[in-house]
Amino acid sequence: MTSRSKLSVVPPFLTPTNMSTIAQAEQLDVQDPLASFRAFFQHEPNTIYLDGNSLGKLPIQAKKDIANAVDKQWGENLIRSWNDHWLDLPKRLEQKLALLLGAKATELKVGESTSTNLYKVIHALLSSNLTAKSLLTDSLNFPSDVYVMEGLAKQFDCKPPTIVAYVHDLKADLPLLKAEIKKQPGIVCLSLVSYKSAWLYPMKSLNEFAEQHNSIIVWDLSHAVGVVDINLAESKIKIALGCTYKFLNGGPGSPAFLFIQEELITELHSPIQGWFGHKRPFDFSLSYEPSDGIGRFDAGTPQVLSLVAMEAGLDLTLKAGIDAIRKKSMMQTSYLVELIQEKLTPLGFIIETPMNPEERGSHITLAHPESWRVCKALIIGKGDGVKIIPDFRPPQYLRLGIAPIYTRYIDLFKSIERIEHIILSQEYLEIDTEKPTVT
Ligand SMILES: Cc1ncc(COP(=O)(O)O)c(C=O)c1O
Repeated sequence: MTSRSKLSVVPPFLTPTNMSTIAQAEQLDVQDPLASFRAFFQHEPNTIYLDGNSLGKLPIQAKKDIANAVDKQWGENLIRSWNDHWLDLPKRLEQKLALLLGAKATELKVGESTSTNLYKVIHALLSSNLTAKSLLTDSLNFPSDVYVMEGLAKQFDCKPPTIVAYVHDLKADLPLLKAEIKKQPGIVCLSLVSYKSAWLYPMKSLNEFAEQHNSIIVWDLSHAVGVVDINLAESKIKIALGCTYKFLNGGPGSPAFLFIQEELITELHSPIQGWFGHKRPFDFSLSYEPSDGIGRFDAGTPQVLSLVAMEAGLDLTLKAGIDAIRKKSMMQTSYLVELIQEKLTPLGFIIETPMNPEERGSHITLAHPESWRVCKALIIGKGDGVKIIPDFRPPQYLRLGIAPIYTRYIDLFKSIERIEHIILSQEYLEIDTEKPTVT
């Protein structure tokens, strides 16, 4: 992603004469420089968790931090905790996120959800003179982003967003995307790592292209942050946002973040003029004066308990180092691809993720007509009793998410063996096709 940590080639793990073995997976774990980080997370016994790209695991430190915030800071110290602990909390997290993302802390804000931040920032762009009032996205983007843009188009009485559609979910057709940007310059919203295929856009060159064509790309980093070595300054990102509950292990519903490049901040105004976005909120003035900094995008009281919960995961990511995490992610996705090619391709599974590790994030997507029933069989866990938790995305994608900070090679080996068994033994035929609300 950046020049910081190019892992040019991942050498093959398997060759025609060297088939995968459990011993090899164990050996890879022994050699793993990040292996010790697994101990910092809570693990359910007999469960392999491959859903880190929907909800990361619980850092043990987060439990202690939450208990302290509830018992001591809230329970005992009450209102005094605002001055003693809580007012500085978002700032501290912003400093840490800035280190992770190669930005200035003053360009980052934590809080609210990705969808809300996207709404605010696109509203601000549509209200500014920075770009034409034209909205563009593509079919690889996350639905919520598209919904937000559609809603804003109605509100601003402008044309609905153009959704550049590709023949295939695997990757964007870059010449087509660029042609569309050229045709209708304005606001473009893209997900850096596609939630479907894990395709990773060439962020810097697209930003340069957008700039040449009077456009601003708003990047959704949700599936990239914590596993891709993003450098916002080097990649010439103007605006970005994302979730922290996936690879940053911030907890369910943990606060999202918003990045706005320094020079743009004062050009943009939040649609919600709340007191926390005021220059001097505790003056209680009845006239609104936006903060000079990115704090102008704050609205109300920060979500203290959720902010407390997200700090431990962020600390662990910084401690492990994003370069080491990205390197392991590329190695583990490559290992997984090789296991799939050996055991699952002959059974009709198709890899819907780019083969080049530089072009993908940290999940591997498989397409198979029986993906849903395979997914459910993995979660129920027959066989040797181990439950495996991947996730399913329509129409027929099984996503295997790798969180290098705690995923082991042995987890990947056992998961692929289990999928092979579910198909070969026809165990999937025992599973009904009904789907729960959260998949
Ligand atoms: C890429 C992407 N963008 C946006 C969202 C929505 O985030 P939020 O629920 O914080 O609004 C998600 C949720 O999974 C996502 O994966």
